[in-house]
Order: sequence, then C-alpha cells, then structure tokens
Amino acid sequence: MAVKDDVMAALATVADPAGGGSIAATGRAAGVVVKQDGHAGLVLAVDGLDRTAAERLQAAVEAAVQRVPGVSAARIILTADRAAAPAGSARPKETTVPGIRKLVAVASGKGGVGKSTVAANLAFALARAGQTVGLLDADIYGPSVPTLLGIEGRARVENDRLQPETRHGIKALSMGMMTDPNKAIVWRGPMASSALVQMVEQCDWGALDVLVIDLPPGTGDVQLTMAQKLKPDGAVIVSTPQDLALIDARRAVAMFGEVGVRVLGVVENMAGYCCPNCGHVSDPFGHGGAEAEARTMGVPFLGRIPLQMAVRTASEEAQPVSGEAATVFDEIARGVIVTVGL
Ligand SMILES: Nc1ncnc2c1ncn2[C@@H]1O[C@H](COP(=O)(O)OP(=O)(O)OP(=O)(O)O)[C@@H](O)[C@H]1O
Ligand SMILES: [Mg+2]
Repeated sequence: MAVKDDVMAALATVADPAGGGSIAATGRAAGVVVKQDGHAGLVLAVDGLDRTAAERLQAAVEAAVQRVPGVSAARIILTADRAAAPAGSARPKETTVPGIRKLVAVASGKGGVGKSTVAANLAFALARAGQTVGLLDADIYGPSVPTLLGIEGRARVENDRLQPETRHGIKALSMGMMTDPNKAIVWRGPMASSALVQMVEQCDWGALDVLVIDLPPGTGDVQLTMAQKLKPDGAVIVSTPQDLALIDARRAVAMFGEVGVRVLGVVENMAGYCCPNCGHVSDPFGHGGAEAEARTMGVPFLGRIPLQMAVRTASEEAQPVSGEAATVFDEIARGVIVTVGL
C-alpha cells in the first residue's frame, strides 16, 4: 500500500515553477493523505502563479502522485489567495468573537441543495478530526439544526448568556431554539441579521477552534450583514450539479468576493444516485457541474457527495452520517482545515 512518505517523495520530484526547489520543499503541497483504498489527496497552493502555470503544475502533480505504486486515484485541492479577499480588505487573523479561532460559513445561492446537511456533517467531521466545534444554525426562516441534531425546546440562558446544546461532540445553537417551531417567523431583514450576529456574540460557546455557520439560502441582507459584521474566515458554497443551482452558486461566490470573505471552496451535493436495489448509478441532477464551475471561478473544489439513502436516514434519525458515506465529509473537513488554517 502506498504511504504518505511515498507521495511526499513523488512531490519532491516536481519543481516549484516560482523557483526555490521542489513543491515539497517550498511548501506548496500540504495536507497529504493516502486512504486504504489507494485514494490520495493533497492541497496545492497556487499563489503567485497565473492560470496556465497553475493548471500545468496541477497536471504535473496529479501525474507524479498517480505514478506512486498503490495510488489508484489522486485528488488535488487547489487553493490560492487570489480567491481570497480583494486587495485593501486585509483583516486580522483572529475572529471578531473572543474565544473562537475561526468562523466558517456554509452558504448556497439556492435553497434545498443540502446546505444544512453539509454544515452539520462538516461540523461532525471537523470534530472527528480533533477540532473543538460549534454549529450555529442561522437559518431564520427554516432552521433545520434542531431536527438534524435532535434538539428539542428553547435555548437555556445562564448568566445572561445563551447556552448551546452539546450533541455528538459539538456545541449547537439554532434560531429554532429561540422561537416556537409551530409559529411562522415574520422578522424583517435587518432584525433577522442583527439577531444572527447577537447569537454568535452572546452565546456561551467557550473556546472553539471553529464555529460553522449554516446560513439561510440566497445572497440577501442576512448573508451580507453576517459577512460584513462577523467577517468569517471563509465560506463553503454548496451546490447541486445542475445549471440552475450553479448560477446561484456563482452569485454566492461573487457576493463573498465583494465583501472580502474568502471562498474556501465548492461542495457538490446530490451528485449521482446509486440505486440500492440494482446498484445502477444515475445522475438525476447531472454530474461534475460544480467541480467544473469551481475551476472556472478559480476556487477550490472540496468534494462530491452522492445522493444516497444513508445521508437522508442519518439526518432523519438526528445522527451524523457514518460508515462509507462519511468519508467524503472527512475529506471536505480536511480541505477546510488546510485552507482555513486550523
Ligand atoms: N446527499 C444527499 N443524499 C440524500 N439526501 C440528501 C442529501 N443531501 C441532502 N439531502 C436531503 O435533502 C433535503 C434538503 O437538505 P437540507 O435541508 O440540508 O438542504 P438546505 O440547502 O439546507 O435547505 P434550505 O435551503 O431549506 O435551508 C433533506 O431532506 C436532506 O436530508
Ligand atoms: Mg438549511
């Protein structure tokens, strides 16, 4: 079986186009993992390279890693600061909230693409990777975290501070814990966005490595205010592979770019359906569209989650996705850990 050292040795044969030796020596390649099944993954920083040079380097790295005996597939996650805040919007490394090292927003242009499912399972996967994790469900209009985590009732308040609930090793707070689940919420935009900021700032999170924020769908007032006030360290954009969702995903990437929030990458959800009876894989929403779109936009592609029963049933049972189906979330979490610097 191929091991990490073999992959590192292969990377040492690829020269850094910007000079200074191999990409292993200059630190362009990081976060190497090799799984039991021979799938290798790593993060490649393409800062300072133009598009052609970056693509050429990616191809060279892919070829070098695939030549390693025992490696059956190689996945390279590209990162670059050009996908980060535009010039002039440099911001401090710490988050605006004391005790929280990193804030990561999970967003989508379109509703119903699996944002909450991804946010919750990304949070679980980050916790599996040893991080101390919080999950804030900022979806004012349709909070799903109470259902996904099996939380009932309102949030407790102690010493004037909201108390998150701990489930499966993560701390969670949801808009759904503020309100009566059976009543429609008629908050106006500005009220809703200030409530969100208050929830992050006034909750007793304790020390967190990362707070994952599940945003409501779209690119409206709530998302903008959140981005400007909380200044998250990065945003993960969830999209299904079909064109209509991709148009909205593009809009979300553009919005975060405008307010200087780094897009950590795109996740493609509901890609390919494997029939549990005959094993045939079909593509109800197409396949690969989000990855191609991420390439076009110059942002990393973090992973592809198939449409599968295991994801839906785990969510319905208020459990983390487990087994084989969880590996893609672990992969996405690794990408986030490396790109956001956890
Ligand atoms: N990969 C998947 N396989 C199977 N079912 C999925 C998958 N991803 C999400 N779902 C299911 O699709 C439905 C919508 O997912 P989810 O609530 O996470 O979407 P959302 O983008 O957060 O929606 P909203 O825009 O309403 O907030 C849920 O029932 C969820 O269990
Ligand atoms: Mg949701």
